[in-house]
Amino acid sequence: MKKKVLAAGFAALLILPFHKANTIDNTQFWMKIKATDKFQRSLIADMGVSIEATREDFIVAIGNLEEKNEIEKMGLLETSFPLTSLHDFPTEDREFHNFTELSEALEQMKNENSDILTVSSIGKTVEGRDILAIRISGDMNQASQKPGTIFMGGHHSREHLSVEMPLRFAQKLIAEYRKGNERIVNLINNRDIHIIPAVNPDGLEYDVAGGRYKYWRKNRSQNKNGTFGVDLNRNYGFGWGTGGSSTSPGSDVYMGPSPFSEPETQAIKKYVETHTNISILLSFHTFSELILYPWGHVYNPISEAKDKAVHETMARTMAQWNRYTPQQSSELYIASGDTTDWSYGEHKIISFTFELDPADSWSGGGFYPGQGVIPGVVEKNTEPCLYLIEHSDNPYRVLDKSPSQI
Ligand code: ARG
Ligand code: ZN
Repeated sequence: MKKKVLAAGFAALLILPFHKANTIDNTQFWMKIKATDKFQRSLIADMGVSIEATREDFIVAIGNLEEKNEIEKMGLLETSFPLTSLHDFPTEDREFHNFTELSEALEQMKNENSDILTVSSIGKTVEGRDILAIRISGDMNQASQKPGTIFMGGHHSREHLSVEMPLRFAQKLIAEYRKGNERIVNLINNRDIHIIPAVNPDGLEYDVAGGRYKYWRKNRSQNKNGTFGVDLNRNYGFGWGTGGSSTSPGSDVYMGPSPFSEPETQAIKKYVETHTNISILLSFHTFSELILYPWGHVYNPISEAKDKAVHETMARTMAQWNRYTPQQSSELYIASGDTTDWSYGEHKIISFTFELDPADSWSGGGFYPGQGVIPGVVEKNTEPCLYLIEHSDNPYRVLDKSPSQI
């Protein structure tokens, strides 16, 4: 795979100058950058690149030419190469769902399970696609009176596994319910479960269009300077624009012109605020195998001792099942305007971000690990999801071990 990527990169270098004379250079670069602690990593995050993996003495990040040059000038760049690859969603990764296939899967799910499930559009994207939400509960008329949990994926276009995870978790829940699995029947009858597999379907489609991956991250907003995209995970309104995001529209971590400027984040805001029974939120991303919790925009831990303890305890417990590393988001690097700082900061919803498989981009395949990893990832993350749903009646009982209310 690496060879293919490199070859394509060199090919792009040869071809680019001929027809890209005076347009903005949209080429993204994969960079290995020197950084030895969270402060150095935050400094780099502040420059507008997206950090994708952190190690003891370096990070891996994606950024544009301007950012690459800046980092090179600072003497921090170890290696880099332009990102163009020849992967093909429809053939070698055909088990991943594009937006049409996702819509069809949800339609079928709805038709076969209308007794316990609804599918609705919670808003339209920049390009007019529906942002689809699945809601599962034993008696839809009573659902709002039951404890609620919300799962979401696909904020970032190239993180296709983060769409498969919530989609397939929903399918699995339903299959187990139909089999009469007592635990799941009980859960569905006593809980309100919300699943939004693709928050950013425009980006998802753009990333796979033309049969090759584009390493696209943001949505597809047309920015004023001719560039495209706002980073949806920098656009939420709590602590917005306070570090680790960029005011530069061409940046991969562009925060947008204002908090909640994007229809996609507006839709999530409205949906979460309409369903006031939601007590727990989990946002799937890829990759690095991490369980993250607030805060992300400051180094300080959550000041409310009980809330801090709940996040830590739940993260540690879930890590036993998926073997991911639990930590506060800003231990990685500062980033502001993400989903979980908002959902916890504004609404006191217990909130997590999972960075799914793989662990790294060398052996693991980074954003494009191949469809073979899907079943294993769904399997190891099922118990954490069930645990969250179970505890949505009162997340604080993980602290005193009082029995489940189911
Ligand atoms: N990797 C994700 C992103 O860049 C999650 C960020 C979590 N927050 C943080 N402060 N590190 O959007
Ligand atoms: Zn992400």
